[in-house]
Amino acid sequence: MKILMVCLGNICRSPIAEGILRHKLRVMKNEDVMTDSAGTSNFHVGEAPDVRMRMTAVKNGMDISDLRARQFVESDFDEFDLIYVMDISNKRDILSLARNDADRAKVKLILDETYPGENREVPDPYFGGDEGFQQVFDLLDDATDQLIARYID
Ligand code: 4NP
Repeated sequence: MKILMVCLGNICRSPIAEGILRHKLRVMKNEDVMTDSAGTSNFHVGEAPDVRMRMTAVKNGMDISDLRARQFVESDFDEFDLIYVMDISNKRDILSLARNDADRAKVKLILDETYPGENREVPDPYFGGDEGFQQVFDLLDDATDQLIARYID
């Protein structure tokens, strides 16, 4: 199985979502699930995750400094089984690229794993304070636990 995490810039929310999931899979010694992340925009292509998110990762026992931002491409619909978006605008942007119902069915709001049907969003921490980064981490830590229980365990 292949799981893609998507946000706007691919430097804050989706790399930490990928990093948390990757960390848990390593702890589980699961080698069957592949993870990646991408941005809807090309704003930060090639960049490492935002330094504040890299520090949040380290504080929580993981390292995401190897990740590099890339932009979502149409072929990601073929490559990935599940495409998790962080907010409703990401969802709209990705659905606008979908070619058919099979593509659309892969796209899910990640907080639907923890708060089904509530349309909750992972807040964009980029323009806010440092505490926003740990909040994002905690939301995604819980959501990835649910995701693993549902699709992987
Ligand atoms: P992300 O955060 O979508 O969680 O990676 C952002 C990063 C950069 C920008 C916006 C959001 N930006 O406008 O440059």
